[in-house]
Amino acid sequence: MINDLLDVSKMESGTLSLEYNQVSATKLLDSAQRQVQALATAQGLTLTSEVAPETPLFQADEDKLVRTLVNLLSNAIKFTPEGGGIDISVRPAKDQQAIVFCVRDTGEGIPQDQLGHIFDKFGQVESRKSGRKMSTGLGLTFCKMVVEAHGGCIWVESEVGRGSTFLFRLPVRS
Ligand SMILES: Nc1ncnc2c1ncn2[C@@H]1O[C@H](COP(=O)(O)OP(=O)(O)OP(=O)(O)O)[C@@H](O)[C@H]1O
Ligand SMILES: [Mg+2]
Repeated sequence: MINDLLDVSKMESGTLSLEYNQVSATKLLDSAQRQVQALATAQGLTLTSEVAPETPLFQADEDKLVRTLVNLLSNAIKFTPEGGGIDISVRPAKDQQAIVFCVRDTGEGIPQDQLGHIFDKFGQVESRKSGRKMSTGLGLTFCKMVVEAHGGCIWVESEVGRGSTFLFRLPVRS
């Protein structure tokens, strides 16, 4: 959380640079999954992941992408009741110009009128703030900054009571 806060302020002042390396989507998912697996299991959630076999290696900041995935997975875990499922998948975009990441949960979902607001700094769904004292509302701001620093975009599809799907798209650099 502290690191996200520092990075959000660095990105705002334009001093955070990405460290590009050759990245494997499978490795990214493994690292992120390893960090949240115990928490998911403790909450009675199943965590699955799949990387499409044709997904190429790509240039990106591995550490920041892992943290982005961990943020999305932590949210999915936090907002999904026991017995639910979380699935991560990665595939190349149809035009082969980007890699698409998708984190899907079967949780409580996000009201339509809040969807535009949750990526804002300290943006949290109003009605749920109480009782969630350990959260700051910076996780998604961090994710958005990292994805956009890579030249990509991030968005969410959600239905209250059914779940949420966070997607982000990173252009393939060669
Ligand atoms: N998977 C999800 N399901 C339902 N609501 C979500 C989900 N992910 C995010 N949200 C909503 O978006 C808000 C913002 O998410 P964000 O990760 O930025 O903050 P947070 O999780 O509340 O706090 P932090 O990440 O700083 O600990 C959340 O408070 C929650 O209301
Ligand atoms: Mg969060």
